Amino acid sequence: MEHVCNLDDIEHESAREFQKDGQPVVVAKFDGQVHAYINWCPHLGIELNFMPDEFMDSDKQFIMCANHGALFEVQSGNCLSGPCMGEKLVPVQVEVRGDEIWLGEVPEPA
Ligand code: FES
Repeated sequence: MEHVCNLDDIEHESAREFQKDGQPVVVAKFDGQVHAYINWCPHLGIELNFMPDEFMDSDKQFIMCANHGALFEVQSGNCLSGPCMGEKLVPVQVEVRGDEIWLGEVPEPA
């Protein structure tokens, strides 16, 4: 595990990107929980965002892929709508230690 940021570094109901093991990881703070996924859309295997740290849809309910609008449930990474419906984001193990966010090893995306 590696300390990548603190809870205060991410706004509520939003997400930011951090580098871990040479890969971009999206860390989201949502509904009082922290979730992390590789920044890798299962549709085309490319990054989700166009703008830095812009990962949520306009209602801040889902992680959204800017390429073709796929929506992913923040808690599970499941794609609920869009061209990769039924697939999911690749999770990264995340632990909150006090006010610190730690990430586990980043797997290779499929
Ligand atoms: S690349 Fe993400 S929806 Fe197409």
